[in-house]
Amino acid sequence: MYANKFGRFMLGLYSRKTATACGGLQSTAGRSGFSWTAVCKQRTLWLQRSACLNTRKNTVPCHVRARSASQTTVDPDEVRRFQSLASKWWDEQGEFAALHAMNDLRVPFIRDNLLNVHRVRHPGKPLRGLRILDVGCGGGLLTEPLGRLGANVLGIDPVGDSIGTAQLHSSIDPDLCERVCYRASTLEELAAEEDEAEEEQGAGQFDAVVASEVVEHLADLETFAFCCNQVLKLGGSLFITTINKTNVSYALGIVVAEQLLRIVPSGTHDWDKFISPVELERLLESNGFSVQSVQGMLYNPVSGAWSWTDSTAINYALHAVKVRDDPHTEQAGGSSPHPEDHHAAATHG
Ligand SMILES: C[S@@+](CC[C@H](N)C(=O)[O-])C[C@H]1O[C@@H](n2cnc3c(N)ncnc32)[C@H](O)[C@@H]1O
Repeated sequence: MYANKFGRFMLGLYSRKTATACGGLQSTAGRSGFSWTAVCKQRTLWLQRSACLNTRKNTVPCHVRARSASQTTVDPDEVRRFQSLASKWWDEQGEFAALHAMNDLRVPFIRDNLLNVHRVRHPGKPLRGLRILDVGCGGGLLTEPLGRLGANVLGIDPVGDSIGTAQLHSSIDPDLCERVCYRASTLEELAAEEDEAEEEQGAGQFDAVVASEVVEHLADLETFAFCCNQVLKLGGSLFITTINKTNVSYALGIVVAEQLLRIVPSGTHDWDKFISPVELERLLESNGFSVQSVQGMLYNPVSGAWSWTDSTAINYALHAVKVRDDPHTEQAGGSSPHPEDHHAAATHG
C-alpha cells in the first residue's frame, strides 16, 4: 500500500473501512454528517461525565470505568490490517517508506516545540529527562529517533506483532535499551492505569504524547482526546500528524487511487475517518488542550521527500498543550500556560 510511488503520495489518504465491526458504532467526534447512533452515544458520554463530576471521591473515577466498559479507540479492521504488515516496518523501501521519510519533518517538529516549551538544554541529548508516549508506535519508526534525542519513550500499539518487531529492532542499539520500551496496549488501557495511580501520586505522567498517522485509524476520537489529557502532565504537549478532510483528499485518495488507478483496493479508503484541522482543534480544546500550531506537510512522490507547506489541504502536523487537568470543569477558551510560545495556527485547508 505504501510501496507504490503514488501510494506513498497518498500516505495517510488511505484509510479503513468504517468501524462497523466495533459494535456498529461510528466515531462520534469531529465527524461531519448526521448519525442517530452518534447522537445517542454523545448523550451517553455527557451523562457519564455529569455523573462523574458528582462522584469525584470514587476510588476509580467513574468516567474511566464507564469508558473502559463501553468506549474504545480500537477498530478491529484496522488492527487486522496492521497485523498483516507487522514484519514490514523496517523495510525503508517497502510499505512504510513514506513514514521513514516523514521523520525528516516530524522529529524536528516534536524536538523544537518541546524545547520551546521546556526551555532546557542538554547538548547532544536535547530531550533528556522528558517522558514521551508514542501512541500507535507500530514498529517504532518515530519512537527510536525520539529515544536517540535523549527522551524516555514508551511506545504502545494494539498490534502485538508490531510491538514485537519494534522491540527486536531497538534491542540492536544498546543506547536505546535504557530509554525506549514498548507495550502492546491501547491508550485507554494506559489512561485507566494512570487514573488509579493518580489517586496516590497526582496528575498524568508524560511530558508529551505523540500520535503520528494514527488518528485516522481510530474508532473514537473523543475517547482518544480525553485519554491524552489523562496521561499528560499539565503543560504537556500533544503532537499529531494526520490527513485533512478535503475535496483534494477525496479526489486523490479515493477517486484516483482506488477507482481510477486501482493502486489500492476499492473500498480501502474511508474519507469519513479523515479530520480537518479545525475539527481536530475543536475536539482538543473541548478536552483541555490549547492548540499552539498547525503546519501543512506535502509528500513529493518523485523525490520521496516531505516538505513543509502553507497549505494543510492534505497532510498536516499539529502541536497542542494541555491547559486543564479536568477537561470538563471549563470549556474551550483556556489560555496556554506558555503564552509566549503560542504561535498563530497556520492556514487551515
Ligand atoms: C500508519 S501507522 C503509524 C505508525 C507510527 N505512528 C509511525 O508513524 O511510524 C498507524 C498505527 O496505528 C496503530 N493503531 C491502530 N489502531 C490503534 C489504536 N486504537 N490505538 C493505537 N494505535 C492504533 C496501528 O497498529 C499502526 O501501528
